[in-house]
Amino acid sequence: MKKSIFLFTMILFFSCTNENEEDLYSCLDSDSVTWEHSDLNRSISHIIDIKCASCHTDIGLDLSYNLLTLNNAELLKNFITGNAVGYSYSIMPPPGSEPLTSCEEEKIINWINNNFPFDENNR
Ligand code: HEC
Repeated sequence: MKKSIFLFTMILFFSCTNENEEDLYSCLDSDSVTWEHSDLNRSISHIIDIKCASCHTDIGLDLSYNLLTLNNAELLKNFITGNAVGYSYSIMPPPGSEPLTSCEEEKIINWINNNFPFDENNR
C-alpha cells in the first residue's frame, strides 16, 4: 500500500514537472512570435483564434491585425494587462471567460514590444 502511494505521488510529480517544462519552453521562444506563423506556438493570430474570436465574431467586433496594431497596439496592450479604460471591461478576455495563460500574455506583450511583426518574412 505504502509503495503504491509513493509510486502514485512520483507519477503525479513527474507529469506536473513535464507540463511546466513545456510552458517554460514556449515562453522562452516568445521573442520569435509573429502574427502569422507556421508554428502555431509562435502565432499571435492563433491565440486570438482560440481565446477571443468566438466571442468577437458573435458580437461583430473585428480583431484583425490592422485593428489590433492601431496606435502601436496600445489598446491591445492595455486590454492584455488589464488597464483598458472607457470600456465595460478593463481586461480581455473579460471576467467569466477563459483567461490567457501567463505564457500567452507574455507572447502578446513581447510581440507588441517587438513592433508586431506580421510573419516570418518580417512583412
Ligand atoms: C466573452 C466575450 C469576449 C472575449 C472572449 C473577448 N472579448 Fe474583447 N470584447 C468583448 C466585448 C463585449 C467588448 C466591448 C466592450 C465595450 O464596448 O465596452 C470587447 C471589446 C474589445 C476590444 C475593443 C474593440 C473596439 O472596437 O473598440 C478589443 C481590442 C478586444 N475586445 C480585444 C479582445 C482580445 C484581444 C481578446 C482575447 C485575448 C478578447 N477581446 C476576448 C467581449 C469579449
